[in-house]
Amino acid sequence: MSNVADRKSWPQRDAAVVWHGFTQMSCYVDNAPVIVERAEGRELIDVDGRRYLDAISSLWLCTLGHHIPELDDAVREQLDRIAHSTLLGNGNSIVIELAEALAKKVPVDNPHFVFASDGAAAVEQALKIAFQYWTNSGQRDRKTYLAFGDAYHGDTIGGLSLGGGGFGTEIFDPLRFSVLRAPSFSNPDALRVASEMVQEHAQHLAAVVVEPLVQGAAGMLIADPTKFAQLQDACRESGVLLICDEVATGFGRTGTLFASEQCALRPDLLCLGKGITGGYLPMSATVANQRVYEAFLGPDLGERTFYHGHSYGGNALAAAVALRHLELFERWNVLDNVRARADQLKRLLDERVRSRAGVHDVRGFGLMAAIELAEDSSERRLARRTCAAMVRRGVLARSLGANIILVPPLTTTADEIERIVAALSASLDEVVCG
Ligand SMILES: Cc1ncc(COP(=O)(O)O)c(C=O)c1O
Repeated sequence: MSNVADRKSWPQRDAAVVWHGFTQMSCYVDNAPVIVERAEGRELIDVDGRRYLDAISSLWLCTLGHHIPELDDAVREQLDRIAHSTLLGNGNSIVIELAEALAKKVPVDNPHFVFASDGAAAVEQALKIAFQYWTNSGQRDRKTYLAFGDAYHGDTIGGLSLGGGGFGTEIFDPLRFSVLRAPSFSNPDALRVASEMVQEHAQHLAAVVVEPLVQGAAGMLIADPTKFAQLQDACRESGVLLICDEVATGFGRTGTLFASEQCALRPDLLCLGKGITGGYLPMSATVANQRVYEAFLGPDLGERTFYHGHSYGGNALAAAVALRHLELFERWNVLDNVRARADQLKRLLDERVRSRAGVHDVRGFGLMAAIELAEDSSERRLARRTCAAMVRRGVLARSLGANIILVPPLTTTADEIERIVAALSASLDEVVCG
């Protein structure tokens, strides 16, 4: 370590060289960032040895917590074989084993997996596959997408175009391509209206893109699961492809392995990411059903081929840990815990948070919750300051606009749920109600 580095604090060293996403770097150090060094179970440990319960699963990824011996072993064992080999034109045995295991679980008929590294890339792949599906089928007019208000599908240009905007991303509006926009899940008629829009615009629509059950990044907006069937029917009747984005809801978040199961959805294309490796290594996937896959079959080097692929797509280390993660899900009955802890979290938020002054709404499904504050603003930064107060109490939370977001690991214990709600209540007292 250089002398200069010695004299600087970790946040100062960080700010000097790392540019953090969705973060104003001019006040990064003043906002007292947590500089993580290691972790045990569901607790992150910072460079000074302080512990924080990870109530956001490190951006909704770490399903089982951190530093899981079984997952650590999966990476180590794979390291003794190979870390990575390209999937372009050749295969890798651990990736095949993962795809076979996932194929038994995903709500997609005869699924085929295109692997990538981030959720946004999985969405981008789905958009391109849907577009080319229609080109390969000789229907070049079908090139528009229907997406929902308040949707979030990632930060690539395609993902941003589908997204409902917000979070300061308006600056990119000139880059967004236009989509047909159905209402947000905050409108109880959103799915009915979307179904009617599909019927009306079918001849120009390539696909509908939807987050099943929960619009997570919008602040946990929930749609009635029984209303998705109507949308699926409209797609099937008109041939429009249905893309379910389960990057946030997939891998147990809502109490079933996939939220599509609760909505009785079997999409043509499914986007997976975040929890797929339990937060260990970057991996995502676009899953296509037989109907879509078959439209790409043709002569070698022919134009029906899907000419797309990322360097790290189907990384072997990520595949090994994803496979072990899937096995642990069953072995540990993770979904039972999600349902029990989700009931507890809902009850505690209803009892201790919902009716507080300054709290506008409490929403959630499974282990995804949002506490929306009334009258927040970029000057008052109430949600942000409440999360900072929670961090001082040893619980890592994160705000999204006026919402305080809680997305704890799926293995969180009853005591830890108590700890999260206690820290939230005390922090609301300090910042909002005090
Ligand atoms: C529904 C949904 N789709 C896509 C993404 C983008 O995933 P990533 O951040 O891995 O690119 C997110 C991220 O929050 C998401 O919630």
